[in-house]
Amino acid sequence: MIKREFQVPEEERNLRVVSSAYSEEDAAVEQSLRPRTLDEYIGQQKVKENLKIYIEAAKRRGEVLDHVLLYGPPGLGKTTLATIIANEMGSAIRITSGPAIEKPGDLVSLLTNLGQNDIMFIDEVHRLQRPVEEILYPAMEDFVVDIITGKGPSATSISLSLAKFTLIGATTRAGQLSQPLRDRFGVTLRLELYTPDELTKIVKRSAGILGIDIDDYGAREIASRSRGTPRVANRLLKRVRDFAEIVGSGKIDREIADYALGKLEIDKLGLDALDRRMLEVIIKTYGGGPVGLDTLAATVGEEAVTIEDVYEPYLLQIGFLARTSRGRMATRLAYEHLGISYSPQSHDEQTDDGQLKFF
Ligand code: ADE
Repeated sequence: MIKREFQVPEEERNLRVVSSAYSEEDAAVEQSLRPRTLDEYIGQQKVKENLKIYIEAAKRRGEVLDHVLLYGPPGLGKTTLATIIANEMGSAIRITSGPAIEKPGDLVSLLTNLGQNDIMFIDEVHRLQRPVEEILYPAMEDFVVDIITGKGPSATSISLSLAKFTLIGATTRAGQLSQPLRDRFGVTLRLELYTPDELTKIVKRSAGILGIDIDDYGAREIASRSRGTPRVANRLLKRVRDFAEIVGSGKIDREIADYALGKLEIDKLGLDALDRRMLEVIIKTYGGGPVGLDTLAATVGEEAVTIEDVYEPYLLQIGFLARTSRGRMATRLAYEHLGISYSPQSHDEQTDDGQLKFF
């Protein structure tokens, strides 16, 4: 039987200050903080280096840039990168998302309105419905759309040619994309969680733009609790500023950052109550694991995909969670962080010193 004692209330999930989900407040702030060129963009070094080459090569040949697939956890700057690519190519960009395109006709009208070299950005591209997605195949490959008119035996197909455009698709996981769609992207780039050093630079840059007084220690404190995610870092920066203005001197230093983040119940590593609860479930309810993703999701009252896309990447990166062939396990580090003595009940996948055999 699946226990649900750790059910997380809906409103708490959506109000999570370390959530990488997008809010309206984020939209306004991200707009002003968004870097406009690859040189202004901090981090993702490998992605940037490769993109520079592809952009330069396409421009030199006078060709349209090949279709680009960006994938990685939410909040890492996929939309930002798409707007930078457009900027660097000198192209116009149209931004839409998989769920927003409901019918094949919606996509046809988007595509037929594109101009030469325009960029179409589709966020959550894995959520396109199949009939919509099928319109994309010839559009991406041959810059045509096939429209069927009439029904039954009298149905005829007309082929409309499109301007040569670049599709930039974004998804949280490339594996969620259908094979035919994935195959049509000439460039696939994986975004990684940011290091604390990179996030410190991002926090300082954002503070400069927003006119926030912050020292290096304050920036680092916020950065190291932002789960590798600029969206979280920028949100925490604004919350810490509130505390600095009301409780402190107005300036963000380490002390006020630590105080504010404590009030927000974000611990030294950026884990909030929900992360800790998930680890506690694995440890206390399932003896440290392994526990299957679906069982874990049902127990904490979250969607399995949310756990995979939003919670897990950071917990895996800091070595608190391990994925084994039989499910998720809490590591010794997770026990120590939660102050629980390390005594996993299922030793079968861990050696005596707590190392996982499969990793
Ligand atoms: N703001 C959000 N993400 C950023 C990044 N990668 N570089 C600079 N500023 C940012």
